[in-house]
Amino acid sequence: MIYQSDALTVTRLDGDIAELHFDLQGESVNKFDQNTVNHLTQALDALEAESGLKGLLVTSGKPVFIVGADITEFTSLFGAGADEIKGFTGLNNANFNRLQNLPYPSVVAINGFALGGGFEICLACDFRVMSTVAKVGLPETKLGILPGWGGTVRLPRIIGVDEAVTWIATASEQRPDAALKAGAVDAVAAPEQLREVALATLNNAIGGQLDYAARRAQKSSPLPLNDTEATMAFFTIKQMVAQQAGRNYPAPVKVVDCIEQARGMGLEDALDVEAAGFAELAVTPVAAALVGVFLNDQLLGKKAKGWEKKADKKVAQAAVLGAGIMGGGIAYQSAYKGVPIKMKDINQAGLDLGLKEANKLLAKRVERGRMSPAQMGEVLNSIDPTLTYGGFDDVDIVVEAVVENPKVKHAVLAETEKQISPDTVLASNTSTISIDFLAQALERPENFCGMHFFNPVHAMPLVEVIRGEKTSDTAVARTVAYANKMGKKAVVVKDCPGFLVNRVLFPYFDGFSKLVRDGADFQAVDKVMERWGWPMGPAYLMDVVGIDTGVHAAGVMAEGFPDRMKLDFKTATEVMFENERYGQKNSIGFYEYVEDKRGKPKKTVTESTYALIKDIVAERTEFSDEDIIARMMLPMATELARCLEEGIVETPAEADLALLYGLGFPPFRGGVFRWMDTVGMQYIAEASEKFAHLGKSYELTEGMKAKLADGTTYY
Ligand SMILES: NC(=O)c1ccc[n+]([C@@H]2O[C@H](COP(=O)([O-])OP(=O)(O)OC[C@H]3O[C@@H](n4cnc5c(N)ncnc54)[C@H](O)[C@@H]3O)[C@@H](O)[C@H]2O)c1
Repeated sequence: MIYQSDALTVTRLDGDIAELHFDLQGESVNKFDQNTVNHLTQALDALEAESGLKGLLVTSGKPVFIVGADITEFTSLFGAGADEIKGFTGLNNANFNRLQNLPYPSVVAINGFALGGGFEICLACDFRVMSTVAKVGLPETKLGILPGWGGTVRLPRIIGVDEAVTWIATASEQRPDAALKAGAVDAVAAPEQLREVALATLNNAIGGQLDYAARRAQKSSPLPLNDTEATMAFFTIKQMVAQQAGRNYPAPVKVVDCIEQARGMGLEDALDVEAAGFAELAVTPVAAALVGVFLNDQLLGKKAKGWEKKADKKVAQAAVLGAGIMGGGIAYQSAYKGVPIKMKDINQAGLDLGLKEANKLLAKRVERGRMSPAQMGEVLNSIDPTLTYGGFDDVDIVVEAVVENPKVKHAVLAETEKQISPDTVLASNTSTISIDFLAQALERPENFCGMHFFNPVHAMPLVEVIRGEKTSDTAVARTVAYANKMGKKAVVVKDCPGFLVNRVLFPYFDGFSKLVRDGADFQAVDKVMERWGWPMGPAYLMDVVGIDTGVHAAGVMAEGFPDRMKLDFKTATEVMFENERYGQKNSIGFYEYVEDKRGKPKKTVTESTYALIKDIVAERTEFSDEDIIARMMLPMATELARCLEEGIVETPAEADLALLYGLGFPPFRGGVFRWMDTVGMQYIAEASEKFAHLGKSYELTEGMKAKLADGTTYY
């Protein structure tokens, strides 16, 4: 034994080969936490002191290789300032440089995920052998930062600038075939042969058949581009990357900047450029928000897994009532993820429509080579369209997705309860009707909860699981387990009008209605909110949701929370509704929609909208971007704070993710609570005062006032 710690060991093998073996005790994965980085330094001390070695093999004792840095350490590190951050990158860069410079060749056996720092250590080795089941990549830009342990330096020198930029800017994980083709790895081997192939490669390097010195020279030398080539190449690449990333995500462009700036430098100087770029990005609010999203997502995943563990049984057979837009989508998603599903409707035409939709989605997958025709057939076969309740006594969960009508739902739920076994879970996909109210129709309300999907089901990650007063833990657990199985992100919330997402979305729409009433141009509001980061502005979003659906839901919300959501004026949305302009579904709402070449609705401006709302809006007034943002976001923020204070949602993390996954809230802002932390409660309070005349939805909640007083934040 040359070195031993709870993170890694170095042993001496036959033939004077040392094996550096990562196996972090007490963890399911290897990662570069502070502890591991320090132990790697000590291991290198030991290796350098050991005489007579001829080669180094790097391996992992986990199913993954190394998943990267410990992201849970990032929040405090990034808050500690640029010097601290440079110290962090410097420490492990010194390690990797020492590894690269050992006086004998090194080979790494990449058995599983080698991501971020986990892949950067591989790049520091001379040769890389990858298992057929492994994946490699540098996903740091997803967190708003860049690879800080030599990724932007070594990767372009190994595989070329174009490919390296694509890998890093898109934060993508690469399969063995792609990695081999790019030259990022030297060989691919079946898992059981990986060690053998890696050792053979090492022996070849020791024997001189493979030139490891040349490998080192390549990584330590400037990029082989002359000035003209470089100017041309970097100009084009930067434009492309900037366009793809968008102005709110600075990391990918910074990656290109760093590679360009360092192109004529040796390894050490190039690493300094990278470290400066890393530190610059790490202190931005974007990095804080994206790291926050990652950590929140881990928390959400843990909670969902926790519920799954509590489930009394797996969902092996599901059923959905109603084969409409939502029912069809739910059937597709369930079948696609391997849970057979019965799809019941009251008429054949409905069933045909539901199946057609599933067929279309699957055909697209086949077309893109993501699924074989045989697999498609299998998935379709696991959707069982039916007009009767035959076989319903054998299903584990029934999702009700019939028309949004309380009477119809009461009748359908009561009828269904008689057809299912006593322990089957019944869940409603209602978007506006109270779960407790629906439960009144049932004899076993404990088996009932909400399971609120978002449209389109296959594309929207969120599912709200709504627990009513009588819902049992067992029902919640089985429903969350089913959502997990469907590949969805489940957030468990309590029952209230609008549940969580719609409850905070409608005050936001009210903010829009008030702006338009007061003379704002609806298109200007859309543009400002889109620039702020929303995938679509409020008028466009309302068109996509459906003006009729929006007006109906607004009514429900107004009844539920009259003090904040009952409006005493006619809204532009209501005018659209009265004029049968229902939005995208009938090609006209605030905007007009024409199909583009690919059959997708494309929005165009119509003057008729202005003519229709003329009588209910004030004279055209210009509002500053800041005022538009505050008037739109404040009602959403105060309502979300209320939901947290009332226990509708348990944590700011879940609330923020629900808006990200359910509404497409801009990830670079992290969520509404993260946004409030970023701008500060003082700013929110000032805006609240400025717009107090707009109503109670602009008032700070008690919880917000407390934060203002004691200076604490949500995170
Ligand atoms: N469309 C959305 O964006 C959206 C989003 C989230 C939730 N929801 C909710 O999902 C539910 C369904 O909405 P949708 O948009 O899919 O409606 P839809 O009108 O497209 O489909 C409803 C289907 O239910 C069928 N149906 C009616 N009575 C039935 C019965 N007794 N048994 C079986 N089937 C019956 C109809 O034939 C129709 O095919 C509603 O509660 C809605 O609020 C909709």
